[in-house]
Amino acid sequence: MAKTRKSATKAKSTTKPEANPLWGGRFQAGPSAIMQEINASIAVDRRLYRQDIAGSKAHCAMLVATGILSAADGKRIARGLDRIAAEIAAGDFVIDPALEDIHMHIETRLGALIGPAAKRLHTARSRNDQVATDFRLWVREALDRLDAGLVALLCALLDQAERHAETVMPGFTHLQPAQPVTFGHHLMAYVEMFARDRSRAADCRRRMNESPLGAAALAGTSFAIDRAMTARALGFARPMANSIDAVSDRDFALEYLAVATIAAVHLSRLAEELVIWSSPAYGFVRLSDGFTTGSSIMPQKRNPDAAELVRAKTGAIAGALQALVIVMKGLPLAYGKDMQEDKAPTFRAADDLDLSLAAMAGMVADLKAEATAMRAATALGHITATDLADWLVQARGFSFRDAHHAVGRLVQAAERRGVDLAALPEAEIDAAIPGAGRAARKVLDIDRAVKSRASFGGTAPAGVRRAIARARKTLV
Ligand code: ARG
Repeated sequence: MAKTRKSATKAKSTTKPEANPLWGGRFQAGPSAIMQEINASIAVDRRLYRQDIAGSKAHCAMLVATGILSAADGKRIARGLDRIAAEIAAGDFVIDPALEDIHMHIETRLGALIGPAAKRLHTARSRNDQVATDFRLWVREALDRLDAGLVALLCALLDQAERHAETVMPGFTHLQPAQPVTFGHHLMAYVEMFARDRSRAADCRRRMNESPLGAAALAGTSFAIDRAMTARALGFARPMANSIDAVSDRDFALEYLAVATIAAVHLSRLAEELVIWSSPAYGFVRLSDGFTTGSSIMPQKRNPDAAELVRAKTGAIAGALQALVIVMKGLPLAYGKDMQEDKAPTFRAADDLDLSLAAMAGMVADLKAEATAMRAATALGHITATDLADWLVQARGFSFRDAHHAVGRLVQAAERRGVDLAALPEAEIDAAIPGAGRAARKVLDIDRAVKSRASFGGTAPAGVRRAIARARKTLV
């Protein structure tokens, strides 16, 4: 949608540029080229054009309804705005850095299309409430996209979890084999995390869904406007209660970025696990051709680039939160131009997050879990040692500390023999704990260990299936 109108280059090269037609009444000369460059936000905020036009249409309709604007002018303005929306959507958008931002571009174009009536649109409005409104509308859509992206990922995770509710794998702590779990249970941990991300996004949306429009520059306006009407028209629950707050705060964007950062952190952990699991040393999953790449030198390679990029993009998303926190910190009320720097990091974070969610949903949907490799890995690391200790407590009246110590000795014996605890001969167990050998061998069985963890939230397959059913209900 970018073109550069001739006047743009003209404005840049003249030695004594003309004063800005929209705010230059008290100026004799226009801004220097550097001033213009640092001041212009159009390259970034052009992405707000739909929201800006929606806000202007709502404002215009309200001005007509309250008798501030004539119906004839209102009609001209609304038609002109529709035409501009169509032009921009069709890629016909001429950028002129002298016009600073999206608001001035649209207003200027409106003037070119409909003449003097265009100048009446900015009655009882300031760019301060205008941009706050546009940006809120944009962030609200970003939250809706986030929710849709999370739902798609959740569906993919739930399908895999269902398939693998009984597929055993080692559960890890410190990335050391800890206790056996099912692959389904492990995936369901992510389902819980991403479900909380949805709920955080919903909270943020509810809180931010108030309209700044009508706050004007900062103090409200002497025109008898109807803020409830514009709020309604734009899908806001109500107008913001304080005009200074309305133009000053960007907490809604901060909150969105915080929600985004937490979701990105969740994504990065899953991405990291995909990287580990898909490495041949583990071989727990096979990522599809669609979400891996080859190497130009090593013919055997299948690299998990998408997972790595999802992992890395978390940096930019968390960075965006930091950037905006620092922009806002210590700013006196009300609007300051610093706040123009709110959009670039937010847009970038939203782009990165949307893409990361889509990539993760694709990877998860496509991945093939290698049940045999997962089961084979449970034979390493004496992974049912806790089960044996628990059994000694339950069946033999040991204190847990004594049981822990006794099993520790058996692990030592197994290591001396170079076998896993579960493969330690019965006789050797009997020698350490008289008469325990036979039962112990049963207790050390992986499937039994997994089934036995039937406490609420545990890894027993029946519990995993119930968790899947509960989670599915929240998605319909
Ligand atoms: N481009 C500006 C921004 O994004 C719009 C608001 C300008 N307001 C002002 N008082 N200069 O913040």
